[in-house]
Amino acid sequence: MNPVSQQTDLLIIGAGAAGLSLALRLADQANVILIGKGALTEGSSKYAQGGIAAVLSDSDSIEAHLLDTLEAGDGLCDEQAVRFTVERGQENIRWLINQGVNFTRRSNPPAGDDFTNYHLTREGGHGERRVIHAADTTGLAIVETLEHKVRLHPNVTLLDYHIALDLVTTDNPDGGKTCVGAYIYDRKHHRVTVISARSVALATGGASKVYLYTSNPDTSTGDGIAMAWRAGCRVGNMEFVQFHPTCLYHADAGSFLISEALRGEGAKLKLPTGEAFMHRYDSRQELAPRDIVARAIDSEMKLHGFDHVLLDISHKPAEFILQHFPAIASQCQNYGLDITTMPIPVVPAAHYLCGGIVTDLNGRTDIDGLYALGECSYTGLHGANRLASNSLLECLVFAQSSAKDISELLQRQPEPTIEITSWDESRVTDSDEEVVVAHNWEELRRFMWDYVGVVRTNKRLQRAASRLALLNQEINEYYRHFRVSNDLIELRNLVLVADLIVRSARQRTESRGLHYSLDYPDQIDHPQPTILTPDG
Ligand code: FAD
Ligand code: SIN
Repeated sequence: MNPVSQQTDLLIIGAGAAGLSLALRLADQANVILIGKGALTEGSSKYAQGGIAAVLSDSDSIEAHLLDTLEAGDGLCDEQAVRFTVERGQENIRWLINQGVNFTRRSNPPAGDDFTNYHLTREGGHGERRVIHAADTTGLAIVETLEHKVRLHPNVTLLDYHIALDLVTTDNPDGGKTCVGAYIYDRKHHRVTVISARSVALATGGASKVYLYTSNPDTSTGDGIAMAWRAGCRVGNMEFVQFHPTCLYHADAGSFLISEALRGEGAKLKLPTGEAFMHRYDSRQELAPRDIVARAIDSEMKLHGFDHVLLDISHKPAEFILQHFPAIASQCQNYGLDITTMPIPVVPAAHYLCGGIVTDLNGRTDIDGLYALGECSYTGLHGANRLASNSLLECLVFAQSSAKDISELLQRQPEPTIEITSWDESRVTDSDEEVVVAHNWEELRRFMWDYVGVVRTNKRLQRAASRLALLNQEINEYYRHFRVSNDLIELRNLVLVADLIVRSARQRTESRGLHYSLDYPDQIDHPQPTILTPDG
């Protein structure tokens, strides 16, 4: 029996920067259902701090942004995807400003073109100031503005606390598949519903919750990647997990990021003894790309047995610090840290997945009618290491290009006639052992941290693979016998995504970007992205 089913032109799974932008760009022409698995917009976008990279000043150029992105990506970026993205930066920032996003302005802007009115900050790997921001809460400014607009749009239906379980596909007569909808678990009413759609977009964000320590909110469980893989899509570059160098180290803090923009504005990294160390690792010191800075911190912590290092901006005037980083200052103050007078204890934590579902420049996946955009996608932009603040840019640019492609698809594609089979719960019962899910979740995140972290070895990856094989078996068994729940859906996806990360890491017999192996410290001559294809 199918308690509820709905039909729409476009189903967007995920309401972060990518999903919200796509919804707004198509809502005038199509009916859209936009779902979020918790409170509608809960996801990484909301917590983005530093800003969005784009070429916005006369001293900057597309070539310079392209070269910085390629250099950070360490030989694995797809240059066409990089050019496609950076060329569209300025028009997408303009689009956000037109939607009403209030970026931080300079105090005394020179006369001239209006981008000169905005303050641009700098982050690691950028040779120029090109990061536009709303103080240190850029993501919140974007998400609140876009959410307000989608809530007012009559063609957009919003469903919060709805978690997509799996995609529904049909076989094409000439081979291949078409996506026709998804099964969705309604968390408030504890039932599985069906949404059939003429097109489906995955905008489900990243998967950093696969690690014990992460800057990400609870939503980052790789659901979109796992669903796409199960449906038959390829994934790319899953070994490249970005560890952000500076997350707050405090027993009560959970996960709180200390933006790279602090280093962009002059903050120094120091050992707890007060000694600076980045000059020993890279001539760009604190502004080297993230993989280099995170590895340097990891190495110093291991060498000296420290459980954290320090990030110090207290040499800057207090007024400057409070004006540029009000949210970070206030959050640190909650833990008794006055960042205008004292250094901040920090550690690296899992932050961003550079790989994901393979797409083309229009967000198309291997399945007809199925699109992927934002952090869950692999477009080729980030290569082996994402350049800071290129992620929100990618969300916006690919929402723009996917919207155009979906609009054309909807014009040529007929209304669906397929009746989707109802979710079958006749052979499952309520779980009597929820503890299994909690235990496996904890175990997974801990061994991924220990064995598949900043520095990897063959032996550690082998250990992780063995544990994953057991977990996979146990979770799939559990999934077959018990009624679904939010935690079970997420754990099943996390285990699958962890497996894809480990499989990809084991295939890369070199050290490049974010993948550093003690067994293969050198780089090979003609590196290729790691592309995995589902069986059958
Ligand atoms: P998200 O914003 O994560 O949104 C995912 C959405 O999908 C959510 O609505 C979630 O509920 C939904 N979802 C997930 N699974 C399901 C499911 N199964 N069913 C239904 N809904 C689902 N990048 C920058 O460029 N600049 C920055 O300054 C910056 N700062 C950052 C700071 C922090 C603390 C973090 C964590 C990340 C930061 N990043 C930054 C990275 C960037 O924020 C993210 O990569 C980007 O916001 C991802 O956007 P998204 O729309 O793809 O996903
Ligand atoms: C930050 O503000 O340090 C995060 C920027 C990013 O992840 O791009």
